[in-house]
Amino acid sequence: MEHIHLETKNLSFTYPDGTQALKNVNLQIRKGEKIAIMGPNGAGKSTLFSHFNGLTEPTSGHVEVDGEKIVFERDQLLKVRQKVGIVFQDPNDQLFAPTVKEDVAFGPMNLGLEYEEVERRIKESLEMVGMAGFEEKTPHHLSGGQQKRVAIAGIVAMRPEIMILDEPTAGLDPEGVDKVLHILNKLNDEGISIVISSHDIEMVNEFADKIFVLYNGEIIAQGNKQQIFSDRELLKKAHLKAPVTTEILYKLKENGMDVDTEKLSIEETVAEILKNKKD
Ligand SMILES: Nc1ncnc2c1ncn2[C@@H]1O[C@H](COP(=O)(O)OP(=O)(O)OP(=O)(O)O)[C@@H](O)[C@H]1O
Ligand SMILES: [Mg+2]
Repeated sequence: MEHIHLETKNLSFTYPDGTQALKNVNLQIRKGEKIAIMGPNGAGKSTLFSHFNGLTEPTSGHVEVDGEKIVFERDQLLKVRQKVGIVFQDPNDQLFAPTVKEDVAFGPMNLGLEYEEVERRIKESLEMVGMAGFEEKTPHHLSGGQQKRVAIAGIVAMRPEIMILDEPTAGLDPEGVDKVLHILNKLNDEGISIVISSHDIEMVNEFADKIFVLYNGEIIAQGNKQQIFSDRELLKKAHLKAPVTTEILYKLKENGMDVDTEKLSIEETVAEILKNKKD
């Protein structure tokens, strides 16, 4: 049977001012999956993420990690937070120590690990994100992209089983996006389940196995990339744009070419065009 790593059951959340940010959200994430949560500004993505490791207590419904309900009790929450690591949307909410090294050390030290092990993890995770050599720098003097990578290193150093990243590539240059995707794929190869939120459809097209569309606090669609990206009405509703390859295939179809609009990669799109040329 497939192992369900993270699940929400009828999860609803209302902020103290009455804003109903999540409405009856049911989603399942299987071990080893690469998931993207997409949706417009204010859809509830960050609110949803803050429930995944018990930072926020649901108004109703609950979250399960490895089939176990998150219980709001100190020892249990510590265990959940070791399993589920969250990289926040804004690195300023995450980075706080005077140096990069101390920042990355904070999590592993709180796990009660020995000095040598903490040192090992700092080295390993900073190398993984390409930030070795920045140990003594002040996080606030780093560029946005570098801060993002240090924030990821801090979570990697905790060795979580599930990593949640809120807009991991927002504000990064194209090479920065590729770097972060490379890190995420490497972590996923090691068996870590990855959940990201993003508006960047080209990035999600490259990265995700499965997409959930969140709109106004509700999951309005879920499926693979083909299913989601070829549904133009859904994309419009969720303020998203189809990948440029999908747009090209639709235009060709409107012009009478017999192409499959569910093809997504550049290679497949080119093959569809060439196929028609031959016919
Ligand atoms: N602390 C808060 N108090 C009251 N309402 C809040 C609070 N934080 C968020 N909200 C509201 O909850 C809803 C969901 O916000 P959330 O930040 O989860 O959206 P999001 O999908 O992450 O958006 P974005 O793409 O802009 O990051 C919005 O309507 C927002 O205004
Ligand atoms: Mg957000």
